[in-house]
Amino acid sequence: MPELSLSAGNPLETAVDILVLLCSEDQFAEDPLIRAADASLGGALRQAAADERFRAKSGQTLALHTLGRMPAARLALVGCGPSAGFAARDARPAAGRAARLAATAGARSAAVAWSFVPAALLQPLAEGALLGLYRFDKYLTSDRKTPLALTALTLFPGASKLPDDEAEAALARARNTARAVARARDLVNEPAGQLTPTRLATEAERWASENGLAIEVLDRAACQKLGMGLFLAVAQGSVEPPRFIHLAWAPPSPRRRVVLVGKGVTFDSGGLSLKTNDGMLDMKTDMAGAAAVLAAIAAAAAERLPVEVHALAACTENMPSGSSYKLGDVLTSMAGKTVEITNTDAEGRLTLADAITFGLALQPDLLIDFATLTGACVVALGPHTAGVMSNDEPLAAAFLSAASAAGEDVWRLPLPPRLADQLKSEVADMKNTGERWGGALTAGLFLKEFVGTTPWAHVDIAGPASTDKELGHVGKGGTGFAVAAILEFLRRTAAGLS
Ligand code: BES
Ligand code: MN
Ligand code: ZN
Repeated sequence: MPELSLSAGNPLETAVDILVLLCSEDQFAEDPLIRAADASLGGALRQAAADERFRAKSGQTLALHTLGRMPAARLALVGCGPSAGFAARDARPAAGRAARLAATAGARSAAVAWSFVPAALLQPLAEGALLGLYRFDKYLTSDRKTPLALTALTLFPGASKLPDDEAEAALARARNTARAVARARDLVNEPAGQLTPTRLATEAERWASENGLAIEVLDRAACQKLGMGLFLAVAQGSVEPPRFIHLAWAPPSPRRRVVLVGKGVTFDSGGLSLKTNDGMLDMKTDMAGAAAVLAAIAAAAAERLPVEVHALAACTENMPSGSSYKLGDVLTSMAGKTVEITNTDAEGRLTLADAITFGLALQPDLLIDFATLTGACVVALGPHTAGVMSNDEPLAAAFLSAASAAGEDVWRLPLPPRLADQLKSEVADMKNTGERWGGALTAGLFLKEFVGTTPWAHVDIAGPASTDKELGHVGKGGTGFAVAAILEFLRRTAAGLS
């Protein structure tokens, strides 16, 4: 990642390989930066914009050479759409696009400037710029693997400037968040053949020692001792041994104790309820929840946040084999409840249930789980939005608000008590699947049975955990979704805001 810095100077007087101006649709005509740049170029900017039909719509870009008429060798515009309502969720892709444009142009130094963005959006802008430069190219061997030339990225907030110390703090948070998101993306993008539960635990150990976190990794025998019958049933069909990861950040006199649980299925074939080829294609992503909570707790520790945080991930593959768990099996959970298996592809909720039980023993003030749990959630909300279910109004509100400030799309879903009837079993305390309709909610209701009265939120990230469409700061593949929301939530908790 390049060196990211702030400048109070005039971006039009700075000598960089490329200067990118963020501009809004409605203020494009009067934007003082555009005016000044156009004047320096003798009207060539407006001319090019008119010729290319550039109207600063969201996602539109325009690039031209300055031919020595400005200190910057090239000038580019990134359209941001309407200025009204421009928020973190818009700022991140806009800045990501700007940085990516600079990188694609082969620039070694770049400046990004704006005049219409509120000062409070400096952090998401900086984050978006860094995230736009992320790539996962470790397995490319051809000339498609070109090293990033960009070493210096300077932001020019212009008139919408924060006081210096606040701006530097925002930048520091942006760097830390972007690094954590990139780490989560790396884990999600790594093929399942490489990123086994064992490897995931090794990565967690490395992050723990780097950031002063405590770590405990439980193997199969240790999980057996704790009675994690649901988690171990999912793991029993695989030749890869399971790992239960527990990372802890315990600062002196913390304000709150937060438990984060992440689904860590490193490959979900469906088990004996085998998925189709298409259904299985992206199932290395099924550990995105674990990646998010592990990356987030490492970043929280790096920031020395005064909140006690535990990150838990029950990591395993879900595979079909002669030793797989079977339909009709009745399993005993760590909590003592029995579960009849009606579909081995509903494995996530089983691993999560035991992780939640483990988490409750830590007596947290609140518990949030993150999981690529149901295709039904993607049907309900589309591929970019996570579903949030909760038994606690203040927690749900606090998480939704943190996610929105972080620029991540989340939407509340209900936990209708009537649907819980679908989980009734003749032979066990409950079944692991309900009927087809409302599948995201029955999954949430299944988890709720294990939560008790602790304030809890369940975040189904099946849609946004990975993407096949680029969006400014998010490339194809793992997105690192939820890392920024979790960090924002923890910072607010540390500040006593939630
Ligand atoms: N990992 C999947 C959910 C998923 C689907 C994530 C698509 C990302 C994209 C989960 O383990 C699963 O298979 N869920 C089943 C539940 C069903 C059997 C009740 C599903 O959604 O079909
Ligand atoms: Mn599954
Ligand atoms: Zn799964």
